[in-house]
Amino acid sequence: MKNIAVLVSGGGTNLQALIDAEKSGIIKGGKITCVIASNPEAYALKRAENNGISTRVIPRKEYSDVADYTKAVTDALIEVKADLVVYAGFMTILDEQIVKAFPYKMMNVHPALIPSFCGKGFYGLHVHEAALAKGVKLSGATVHFVTEVCDGGPIILQKAVPVENGDTPEILQRRIMEQAEWKILPEAVSLFCQDKIEVIDGKAVIKD
Ligand code: GAR
Repeated sequence: MKNIAVLVSGGGTNLQALIDAEKSGIIKGGKITCVIASNPEAYALKRAENNGISTRVIPRKEYSDVADYTKAVTDALIEVKADLVVYAGFMTILDEQIVKAFPYKMMNVHPALIPSFCGKGFYGLHVHEAALAKGVKLSGATVHFVTEVCDGGPIILQKAVPVENGDTPEILQRRIMEQAEWKILPEAVSLFCQDKIEVIDGKAVIKD
């Protein structure tokens, strides 16, 4: 059984999707054993507590630089013996130390079809604002491995979601969460926990 640690910063609906998927047997071969928040106010912490999952808060505000903050998060993940680290609405950029400690053992859910609307500055509602400003007719979500390139690691799963007339960033965000993120994140976690993802030539390949 793999130990899954989840990094959060906000509402934690993706964490909830993972908890529900674990309960209903969708996640095979893994168990969420720890939730780490960058923000003490994150509602995601409450979701973890409600489900008996141990939590830690490592407040970003208490660290003046990225390297010190990354070290604190990396040390905590090593201490809890994480086999897989899931960024589920984790809004803090970490440096390459953590990538070296957990190579191809960290995945992130991003609320767009990478390589569109991704990279520095594209997080949360900003992603959907940019998609609506461009007028794309399809957006969606991507689960990818975390590397030193922001939103640039090997893509594991993607799901497209239509943009509709009259969408606001909030409406589009909700549709993408419901139709894509909450489905492909647990699916990718389950594939990882069953050793079904291999990275070949910088690309993630799902084994049959
Ligand atoms: C989600 O839409 C997630 O994809 C996005 O923030 C939201 C967090 O919601 N993450 C990013 O933009 C990271 N670049 P949640 O806290 O309810 O899961």
